Amino acid sequence: MGTAGDNTAPEGRPRAGGMGWSPSVAIIGTGFIGEVHARAVRLAGGRLVAVGASTPDRSREAVRRLGAQRTIDSPEELANSNDIDVAHICTPNALHASYADAALRSGKHVVCEKPLSTSADQAAALAELAAEQGLVATVPFVYRFYPMVRHAKQLVLAGGVGDIRLLHGSYLQDWMSDAADWSWRVEPTVNGPSRAFADIGSHWCDLIEFVSGHRIVSLIARLDVVIGARTVSDHATAFSSTSGDGVARAVETEDVARVLFETDRGASGSVVISQISIGRKNRLWFEINGATLSMSFDQETPETLIVADRGTSAAVVRGAKAMTGDAARLSELPPGHPQGYRDCFDAFVRDTYNAIGGEVPDGLPTFHDGVRAACIVDAVLASSKTDSWVEVPR
Ligand SMILES: NC(=O)c1ccc[n+]([C@@H]2O[C@H](COP(=O)([O-])OP(=O)(O)OC[C@H]3O[C@@H](n4cnc5c(N)ncnc54)[C@H](O)[C@@H]3O)[C@@H](O)[C@H]2O)c1
Repeated sequence: MGTAGDNTAPEGRPRAGGMGWSPSVAIIGTGFIGEVHARAVRLAGGRLVAVGASTPDRSREAVRRLGAQRTIDSPEELANSNDIDVAHICTPNALHASYADAALRSGKHVVCEKPLSTSADQAAALAELAAEQGLVATVPFVYRFYPMVRHAKQLVLAGGVGDIRLLHGSYLQDWMSDAADWSWRVEPTVNGPSRAFADIGSHWCDLIEFVSGHRIVSLIARLDVVIGARTVSDHATAFSSTSGDGVARAVETEDVARVLFETDRGASGSVVISQISIGRKNRLWFEINGATLSMSFDQETPETLIVADRGTSAAVVRGAKAMTGDAARLSELPPGHPQGYRDCFDAFVRDTYNAIGGEVPDGLPTFHDGVRAACIVDAVLASSKTDSWVEVPR
């Protein structure tokens, strides 16, 4: 595993881990994903002490809603909160770096949402800081925690797929498919310079690299603004349409990204990323074509992995006797009792807390993986500007 640093808590910090350790937690950003974190924190044995939102009023409302004890309303306040062991940063993207930096400098372990930062340089600085401080710092690339994804990875590692030739897929949503759909994600100052690709393309690239073991080394990308003007709303929340009663504003960031790429081990691939594909809700889909087998996975039907050779094609269902290792470890309910997105999140937070305790959970996505994703986002932006192939730094 590539946890930042050696997991040694700085002098004077409570040493994490072991039965009965209950970290004190702050969650900054209490919207859609902040609530998912809050549940996972409790299931992993954490105590939700403090929460922060966009205004002091909203922070106080979140204290009541999520059952916390108090508010934290700035990076400085987070840094000065000596009772907090772990900070979960779940704010809009442009705020990630200031909160993560404050938390790490004051000796707190950090879970920071993707994209780790709005630039690769800033993400790299955060990963370096986490390593210097010897703190655990993770990024919720949670699709890694589906048992069938781990099973696919194990098939690759065992050589069953053969040399990988082609990696391809898509990540499609429709919650931004109308001009009345608005979100802070449309504003570059709050979101960063890439929208659809940084938001969900980063998940796809992390997953395909995680499963295949290949690294994307060069790419050419097109970014398309399909809806040129959107109606601003203050009340927009992620994944729901707005009333569209605000003012129309020109859109700068992409609704769609199309990327061709090559890997360090001689494979090629492509991916389509879209937030305007009507009927698609959260369809992260990938296919890996090897010399022996092909495999495909769909996040909306995550209990199966399609495995095919030239003669047969079969849906391998979670719980199959062949599942071992992390695929079996993460398979927590009996077969036929579906696991889903929240189970991935709960397992991710539990593994993060185990890493704080000094264990080495396999496949835990760290700030290094956040940097990797940020480098790919930067390369996509650079390629779309120059209309040329761009190398992705390793
Ligand atoms: N890992 C995943 O699967 C996943 C899924 C969804 C979102 N995310 C990431 O989580 C982050 C939040 O996304 P969301 O969908 O929950 O958004 P959201 O709009 O639902 O929630 C954002 C929250 O941030 C708070 N906020 C805004 N400004 C703030 C400020 N100045 N200080 C403190 N809090 C502030 C808002 O009050 C709100 O509670 C984004 O970075 C997004 O990319 C990750």
